[in-house]
Amino acid sequence: MTDFIISPGPLRGATTIPADKSITHRALLFGAIAQGVSRIRNPLRSGDTNATLGVVRALGIEVQETKSGEILVHGRDLHGLQEPETALDCINSGTTVRLLMGLLAGQDFFSVLVGSPQLRKRPMGRVSEPLRQMDAHIDGRDQGRLLPLAITGSRLHGIDYNLPVPSAQVKSALLLAGLYADGLTVVTEPGPARDHTERMLASMGAPIEGQGSRITAKRPTAPLNPLDITVPGDFSSAAFLLAAGVLVPGSEITIQGVGLNPTRVGLLEALMAMGAEIQQDNWHEIAGEPAGDLHVRPWDLNAITVQGDQIVTMIDELPLLAVIATQARGDTLVRDAAELRVKETDRITTTVMELRKMGADIAELPDGFIVHGPTKLHGAHVTSHGDHRLAMALTVAGLMAEGVTTVEDAACASDSFPGFENTLHQLGASLEISN
Ligand code: S3P
Repeated sequence: MTDFIISPGPLRGATTIPADKSITHRALLFGAIAQGVSRIRNPLRSGDTNATLGVVRALGIEVQETKSGEILVHGRDLHGLQEPETALDCINSGTTVRLLMGLLAGQDFFSVLVGSPQLRKRPMGRVSEPLRQMDAHIDGRDQGRLLPLAITGSRLHGIDYNLPVPSAQVKSALLLAGLYADGLTVVTEPGPARDHTERMLASMGAPIEGQGSRITAKRPTAPLNPLDITVPGDFSSAAFLLAAGVLVPGSEITIQGVGLNPTRVGLLEALMAMGAEIQQDNWHEIAGEPAGDLHVRPWDLNAITVQGDQIVTMIDELPLLAVIATQARGDTLVRDAAELRVKETDRITTTVMELRKMGADIAELPDGFIVHGPTKLHGAHVTSHGDHRLAMALTVAGLMAEGVTTVEDAACASDSFPGFENTLHQLGASLEISN
């Protein structure tokens, strides 16, 4: 087991961060159903995206990796995927399994999806139920709500579906299935979940249209164009450095080439609402996605309330917001975030449990948490519970706590942020790795 041992100290300098995980997953999967070779520049190579890459290969798609780190996906058109001979292993990646369910439901072959013990606990009924309404044939544990799942490809028909929770994974699965369905598939979302699927498929010429919260998909009349994209840096990875920059006295960080899609930057908005001034410049567009550089240094913070539509725009950053809130004056309240309970871990319970070990005044709510701040954190022995976002959020807490913090089981950081520890070293952090 790999532990991170962190001593407090500032981060200073300029850095890039790994490419966006959500966009890389989609580029690999959508490239597979385009006609021709898609070129993915600056893809994320992480535990989760490697799961998608393996699955794409298992579906008969040639994937080449160039010396310069690009990925070429030899797409075989909408109906060119091949029946996999073995189970498709999604490892720890919820995005892989849920998007695949939508993609595979309308194929003319049989497939089985499996995953790690962590993924086998996560709910899949939210995808299998609407897909069944489209006439998909999905079997699995707990009546198709848990992995392993078996999908017998079938002829689908479009439905008009109101998502019960804002989830980009469920939305994406239904839109993908909609590309194979008779008639129109309409998905209405209750909040602004990340829209990378809509942007990317539309850029490939797929008949995907969105008006506000209502998105439609139908069967394309022409092959999808291959992609030629440069993946921007992942805001969700940048968030850890942003937080360290704001929280750790003496820090000053520039993070270059960060994806700034408005459906992703809820934490940036929260930090600014708490009183931080984060300079943004070098605005540009990469792959139809806005991006730019962020400059950050410490600020005094005030507590905020985060709820409703704000939640989905920072869903992966909420454990980190809890860390930030320990240093803000007043009570920070996070509500309407019950989704946190079905992430890689129950992130309400694990975040509260671990931050308390460091002296945080934080309490669990059924759908979120409340943090009374500011509190001086102290170093402690904490664990990630195998959850990459928690491993990194606790590392940030360690950078500003008094004394030494050990984050147990921290190698999982590479599920989304390979080289996290190297980036911290490069910015001057005192972080040792013990195996
Ligand atoms: C993701 C969507 C979110 C997010 C996950 C990545 C995606 O999950 O938490 O890390 O790439 O579509 P939900 O759609 O379940 O909210």
